[in-house]
Amino acid sequence: TETKSHIVAEIQEWKKKRNAILLAHNYELPEIQDIADVLGDSLALARAAAETTADVIVFCGVHFMAETAAMLNPEKTVLLPDLEAGCSLADSITADQLREWKAEHPGAVVVAYVNTTAEVKALSDYCCTSSNAVDIVRSIPEDQEILFLPDMFLGSFVQRETGRENMHIWMGECHVHAGIAPEHVDDVLTQHPEAELLVHPECGCSTSSMYLMSEGILPKNKTHILSTGNMLKHSKTSEASEFIVATEVGIIHQMQKQNPEKRFIPANRTAVCPFMKMITLEKVLAALKENKHVITVPEETAEKAKLAIERMISIG
Ligand code: 13P
Ligand code: SF4
Repeated sequence: TETKSHIVAEIQEWKKKRNAILLAHNYELPEIQDIADVLGDSLALARAAAETTADVIVFCGVHFMAETAAMLNPEKTVLLPDLEAGCSLADSITADQLREWKAEHPGAVVVAYVNTTAEVKALSDYCCTSSNAVDIVRSIPEDQEILFLPDMFLGSFVQRETGRENMHIWMGECHVHAGIAPEHVDDVLTQHPEAELLVHPECGCSTSSMYLMSEGILPKNKTHILSTGNMLKHSKTSEASEFIVATEVGIIHQMQKQNPEKRFIPANRTAVCPFMKMITLEKVLAALKENKHVITVPEETAEKAKLAIERMISIG
């Protein structure tokens, strides 16, 4: 609409004025995806934040992502257009809970998913995202006990892939992905038996999908457990014409845009992350104009978290 294009034009002007870059996650609203300088999964966005020469980073994503960008760039201004954009998975473990868990397993190496607070990262040895979790765990010596947090579905996926037995998994979950259950996938597969199945490892259905694959019930060449960035790559290169998408539905906008001739069917159309949808064009404009909300992390915390974050950026 006219007002929308007006806001977009104003955002472009302010971006120039402030030498700002707009980073957006694949789950953002379509109009945010369409104006992003970099659109990607958690790892791609963290890498883009580490490499940018811009003065201001507007993070169209959720709080932990902006925090990670701020820790990588203490000299830059990192803005989150809505402070309420949190993450139920990051909230599933606190720094105190992690301290207690570590005390129960002295000497264990802590691998934290990037969906965690800066305080939790500061108590961790490695961070990872869904696209490099397996590589990160493989890089740790086999006899080393591991505490993996906070997502139980991603944890059990990594454990299955690596065959690692000395790995303890925190029982946290993302409410959006946990809500994509095996029966949803079953139903949609019955309606679209020819489709390829793309599953995010955070999903409630990821463990059963792996099991069904290993039993030969789901065909291995048509079932893929991937990060959002890798789902996008795969849907471009695959020869299939139909895909069942088991993750937050926002990604379908990009899949459809990049592959207009292919069909993308959500495994559960109610899988919508309320936090990702809080970032609107109006709020992005206000963020640039009013310099809000500046995300900072205390130096001591950032210093402690930095090695874990740098390992995440460099591996996989
Ligand atoms: P990725 O985009 O890294 O796959 O992460 C998914 C997610 O839930 C981010 O909050
Ligand atoms: Fe957090 Fe889940 Fe939303 Fe991702 S989809 S930001 S993990 S609540």
